[in-house]
Amino acid sequence: MTESAVVSNQQTENKQAVQSEYPACRFSIAPMLDWTDRHCRYFHRLLSEHAQLYTEMVTTGAIIHGKADYLAYNEEEHPLVLQLGGSNPADLATCAKLAAERGYDEINLNVGCPSDRVQNGRFGACLMGEAELVAQCVAAMREVVDIPVSVKTRIGIDEQDSYPFLTDFVGIVSEKGGCRDFTIHARKAWLSGLSPKENREIPPLDYPRVYQLKKDFPHLTMGINGGIKTLEEMEAHLAHMDGVMVGREAYQNPYLLAEIDQRLFGSDTPMKKRRAVVEAMFPYIERELSQGAYLNHITRHMLGLFQNMPGARQWRRHISENAHKPGSGIEVLEQALAKIPAHLDV
Ligand SMILES: Cc1cc2nc3c(=O)[nH]c(=O)nc-3n(C[C@H](O)[C@H](O)[C@H](O)COP(=O)(O)O)c2cc1C
Repeated sequence: MTESAVVSNQQTENKQAVQSEYPACRFSIAPMLDWTDRHCRYFHRLLSEHAQLYTEMVTTGAIIHGKADYLAYNEEEHPLVLQLGGSNPADLATCAKLAAERGYDEINLNVGCPSDRVQNGRFGACLMGEAELVAQCVAAMREVVDIPVSVKTRIGIDEQDSYPFLTDFVGIVSEKGGCRDFTIHARKAWLSGLSPKENREIPPLDYPRVYQLKKDFPHLTMGINGGIKTLEEMEAHLAHMDGVMVGREAYQNPYLLAEIDQRLFGSDTPMKKRRAVVEAMFPYIERELSQGAYLNHITRHMLGLFQNMPGARQWRRHISENAHKPGSGIEVLEQALAKIPAHLDV
């Protein structure tokens, strides 16, 4: 059997999460709107069996009133967290229940997104100023599901950026809402004046504050997020925290994920090669295309796979120029793979 066939078979046989001595939250890929859709997550899962994957934020309104199935995912994606956007406890409970019935492993509430659209709906980062309401939201969801309900938040909002503000928030949400699991983006949110993109670079990150929070709430499971790029940085954070969450670097340089199982989860399965991962995507792509998906909706998540390798630019360009053409299929990826020098065992 070829290596890619082994990778592919492992994925289809192990529909539930592969067990590790460490909890899945030790390493997670951040929820990212427009990026971490189910195609992206399937691809990421081929690179790491243990990483905890997050959906994009899905609003309660979309789930309750939308026409599409916003909870659809592939079984291979476990362990999988659904991130919800909303602030109405009853609506959140309805969605949490639906998600638990569909087999999600955890529900996460977004208390970190600063976009205007989200603020108008009174959810996302502005909820940091409403700890009591967040506690009610978490409590309402916990009441109706057995899976964990977690919160992803920031270290502050606007002028409310003192350490006591943060500890009050976490104290209320954990004590009154019963939330045991938090992910802290180590940067405060500015609710006006900055785009969400700018607010991912400004103001500076404050990791020591997040470490202190974990020290002050040792009974809570806490992950750190923001600006983490290398395995060495992840290991350094894990000396202080229960988990690390990586967003942009995981998406833009996905081969980073290939080392996660061995380095962070103690796995002894060999690291997967890039080519084998591409080939392991073929059966998935063919199945999806036959069901009406567009090739470029899948391949757009794979563009960074060969980052820093000879041929990376040609790989990226071939896919970008061809995957959107009507009728294109896996031959586009085969041709793009041929741009990577054959002697490279990658
Ligand atoms: C394109 C994009 C979309 C994002 N969408 C979400 C989202 O839906 N929910 C959320 O909690 N955070 C969202 N974020 C923020 C990330 O989850 C993460 O907190 C942020 O990018 C910082 O982590 P990083 O420096 O590792 O990227 C998004 C970030 C990006 C780049």
